[in-house]
Amino acid sequence: MKPRKGRAEACANIALAKYWGKSPRGDNLTATSSLSLTLDNLRTRTEVLLDDSLSEDEVVLSGTALTGRGRERVTALLDRFRSLTGRKVFAHVTTENDFPTAAGLASSASGFAALSVAADAAFQTSLGAARLSSIARRSSASAGRSLYGGYVELRREADTASVVVPGTHFPLSMVVAVVTAQEKPISSTGGMLHTEKTSPYYPAWVDVSESVFESVKVGIVERDFERVANGMEHSARLMHATMMTSVPPVIYLRGATVELMHEVAARRGRGEPVAYTMDAGPNVKILTTPEHEATLGAWLGGFPGVSNVIVCRSGPAAAVLSTDGSLGTAARAEELQ
Ligand code: PMV
Repeated sequence: MKPRKGRAEACANIALAKYWGKSPRGDNLTATSSLSLTLDNLRTRTEVLLDDSLSEDEVVLSGTALTGRGRERVTALLDRFRSLTGRKVFAHVTTENDFPTAAGLASSASGFAALSVAADAAFQTSLGAARLSSIARRSSASAGRSLYGGYVELRREADTASVVVPGTHFPLSMVVAVVTAQEKPISSTGGMLHTEKTSPYYPAWVDVSESVFESVKVGIVERDFERVANGMEHSARLMHATMMTSVPPVIYLRGATVELMHEVAARRGRGEPVAYTMDAGPNVKILTTPEHEATLGAWLGGFPGVSNVIVCRSGPAAAVLSTDGSLGTAARAEELQ
């Protein structure tokens, strides 16, 4: 059979209200509700080429062949398409991020979202955004949110994510301060399973996270920056406190991360529209207004311990790319709703 190719692009997303923990119901369902903003300047482009001559999937991430757990996670997602279609065909998968991988910049979110859309095109399954969100979510829960643009929620134990409001409803910017790269101490899935088992604060986090999520959501819907800022920072501190109180502790934050938390809080106290959040890594993502992003970016660029600054705004839904031209330059052909 003729090889079939699918190409796609997806943006990463950063959660304003966090998910951390798996539901006891299994299937990678989340224990807490989360709400994210999809970001235009953190993108993954992926190509899936089905090839009958292959005896296993081949995965190349930014020029390097993946082995072990990384390749297995890609194969597990492709297995869902093989079982849906009954086609036992393997794939060459080529994927590129335009930002550092595995440093708490949500590369698994954009990566599995792009892979789902590219596989859907290659296998010609036309599943639609909701089913692709479910498929991506089972590989990386935050990836379920990257199928959509703007403000997106993934409710506790929900199978698929959905749009809360488009980014244009409340135009905000997210400025990423990359804190000098350190090896990630533990993957997010490993970190959350360990937290669930060993932190005495975990049940309290699951209890309180729902009201924090609701408050952030109301803040976005009502365009209330202060409410979003307070809820978002509280969500990040609750999540990191839960990790830090596991045994042995999971500490992703570095010195520069904590210095930035102090500085951002002080600046908001002086009336600047800024609020921080951190994920499974030391980088600080600062929510601000589009009018303030340049001032904020310039300040962060000179901050000790910050190696790079990436300014993002609301990004689009994951989309199929045209199959002509080289990966990364192809025009956006179709945008999923
Ligand atoms: O989607 P995962 O399994 O990689 O976990 C991501 C978890 C956080 O980024 C820390 C929080 C979130 O809601 O995105």
